[in-house]
Amino acid sequence: MQSFFAVILLFIRRVSTSDTKDPQDVHSSSYFMSIWHNRLYLYTAAALFFGIWFALKISLKKKNSKDVNSSVNKTEKSSERSDKQKVVHVSGVKIFYGSQTGTAKAFANELSEEVKALGIPAEVTDMKEYDPDDQLADECTRKSVCVFLVATYTDGQPTENAEWFCKWLEEASTDFRYGKTYLKGLRYAVFGLGNSVYFGHYNTVGKNVDKWLWMLSGMRIMTRGEGDCNVVKSRNGSVQADFLAWKVKFLKRLQALAKGEKKKCSGNCKKGGSCKNKRKDRKVEEEGEKAAQQNNSSEEDLMETSSDEEGSGLEDEKKTGSVVDMEDLGNIMNSVKKAKSKEDVQTDDQIVKLSKLNGVKNIEDEGERREMITPALREALTKQGYKLIGSHSGVKLCRWTKSMLRGRGGCYKHTFYGIESHRCMETTPSLACANKCVFCWRHHTNPVGTEWRWKMDPADKILQDSLEKHQNMIRQFRGVPGVKPERYEEGLEVKHCALSLVGEPIMYPEINAFIRLLHSHRISSFLVTNAQFPQEIRSLVPVTQLYVSVDASTKESLRKIDRPLFKDFWPRFLDSLKALGEKRQRTVYRLTLVKAWNVEEMQAYSELIAVGQPDFIEVKGVTYCGESSASSLTMANVPWHQEVVTFVQQLADMLPQYEIACEHEHSNCLLIAHTKFKVDGEWWTWINYEHFQELVQAYEESGGQQSFSALDYIAKTPSWALFGASEQGFDPADTRFQRRNKTKDITGC
Ligand SMILES: Cc1cc2nc3c(=O)[nH]c(=O)nc-3n(C[C@H](O)[C@H](O)[C@H](O)COP(=O)(O)O)c2cc1C
Ligand code: SF4
Repeated sequence: MQSFFAVILLFIRRVSTSDTKDPQDVHSSSYFMSIWHNRLYLYTAAALFFGIWFALKISLKKKNSKDVNSSVNKTEKSSERSDKQKVVHVSGVKIFYGSQTGTAKAFANELSEEVKALGIPAEVTDMKEYDPDDQLADECTRKSVCVFLVATYTDGQPTENAEWFCKWLEEASTDFRYGKTYLKGLRYAVFGLGNSVYFGHYNTVGKNVDKWLWMLSGMRIMTRGEGDCNVVKSRNGSVQADFLAWKVKFLKRLQALAKGEKKKCSGNCKKGGSCKNKRKDRKVEEEGEKAAQQNNSSEEDLMETSSDEEGSGLEDEKKTGSVVDMEDLGNIMNSVKKAKSKEDVQTDDQIVKLSKLNGVKNIEDEGERREMITPALREALTKQGYKLIGSHSGVKLCRWTKSMLRGRGGCYKHTFYGIESHRCMETTPSLACANKCVFCWRHHTNPVGTEWRWKMDPADKILQDSLEKHQNMIRQFRGVPGVKPERYEEGLEVKHCALSLVGEPIMYPEINAFIRLLHSHRISSFLVTNAQFPQEIRSLVPVTQLYVSVDASTKESLRKIDRPLFKDFWPRFLDSLKALGEKRQRTVYRLTLVKAWNVEEMQAYSELIAVGQPDFIEVKGVTYCGESSASSLTMANVPWHQEVVTFVQQLADMLPQYEIACEHEHSNCLLIAHTKFKVDGEWWTWINYEHFQELVQAYEESGGQQSFSALDYIAKTPSWALFGASEQGFDPADTRFQRRNKTKDITGC
């Protein structure tokens, strides 16, 4: 550039010099001539100008591309940085409060403000406004942290606004149908408010909420806090100070979580808690669970008993000591098995055989016989949500009853037979059973035995108490979010009884009296038996629908799956099917498919069907009951709905007199029906309940002379319930509620 200007200057000088040298020439020679003379300079200047311009352009271009590259790099780097920042470890904090006089509520608001001040969204929720059944499982995937600030009231009860939440949580924590991992992924912290003056009930609600969340696999992010209104005993001097101390810790922990830090396992936690390392070890976890249950007898503590030395399929287990005698579950807790077995030898003489066959009750020493439910068992079953009646019966509110109360659909029996699930009572007059099936959701807390040897309650008392307790459970649904008022009113009047809760109802010596009483109250009877008591099946009075569970089709697989106590379980099983075939009223085989265990036995199943020729065959995929040391069943054994459909189609093809009639996709269940229920090309699998009651009444009044058959009380199946319908068995009158996790849907009894 500089050389360019130098050339220009030289040129100007040259021109001007020539001007001054001879002024007269100025007039004589033109200005252009002067330019012509100095043209060399001009050429040089022009060449220099273009050269420099060209060089400039190239260097500018290079610079630009460098800039672009570096800015791209910069953008990439900054976007990488912001991506890193974008990994959100805590999406927000949900603060639930259970409060009566406002303390917990005020704490919730205070905490919310402080969480927000940290730049983390926070939301305060009145527990009354929250439906845990709908929403709680979703918190597991939202990366939120849930905080529960809950006060305890009289006798350790929750506050009014937390009542439903606590009730739901307690039930879910012990209900196999939710499964032990229902809240896996939920991060939570609990602070309880209480007063240690209430000795024995101090902070019970906080303790319980913490325990129940943990039992459903929620992950505690920190130890539960306790606020004590008793200033004398309060750790920090007042409930406010206790909360403040806890809050400081919580906020610190929250910040750490928000940064993605994980708490290191000290390995010292006594209560099992959320420690992953511990979870790997199921045994240790169970210990933790037991500890969490404050040393109360947990379900795993209570081993079932066989009471018989004749137990067959269980011999191996007996050797290892995993099966002990029925009689003294309390003693099991106290590890006095040896003393116990001696005692059994003596009490065997007092065994009361099932005696209703000949109508004579061989009850010896009634006063001396023991109660089936020991105090320890009572406690464990109560914890699982059973309402116990007398000394051997129980009632529990079924999940489908609740579902239908809320207009969310009924169980498969609603689809297949038209029962109203919200008016159905699930009960049993015998908690004892003669099997210990691998998929039993009781996890074997119930007693087992091959014969009735306990004190016996009268049938009318059992029914009266069952109805009362069932109605009380329904009453708790008054005002619960989503419950339909008309269904609530209907629910109080029981119309159906599912005798299939736990145990073997047919073992109860007064089962016929119980069934008659049900019918006299115009309650239909659905009785399920495990096909081990053929004589009792034969002597059974007519029931609305009689079931046998056909859990396997060969002797070996039955032994493996049902783990029966009877040595002669296979002949008993076959004879039970024959006995079923002799019945005139509706009969059902209930097949439970356990993938990789019994689905391969198609031919054998069709042979069993020929034995009992049931009216219906219900086929359902096994329900996973959660981990249990009592069962080796895993999620891998649960067949998908399509697998069940394929199985059912293949089976139906092998049975010339049967066809697939209905489907309840919601609970992975299909119905194969005898074609006699297909009238003029239309299915009549539903039940005319009113007419059944009339028929059974006439039967009783005529002393059994006026008999009736399954075809006498049929009703037409609605189109939505039929196999192949777009509703897939879901009643369009209700609204389907999709669970987050499909595997958590359950079949029903
Ligand atoms: C009538 C009444 C009964 C109570 N019962 C208990 C109790 O059984 N156990 C307990 O730990 N605290 C009990 N408390 C203490 C309350 O849990 C405590 O005062 C708490 O801070 C109240 O919280 P809130 O204002 O959010 O309702 C009771 C308090 C009252 C007024
Ligand atoms: S699942 Fe059983 S107890 Fe529940 S509503 Fe249906 S029939 Fe009744």
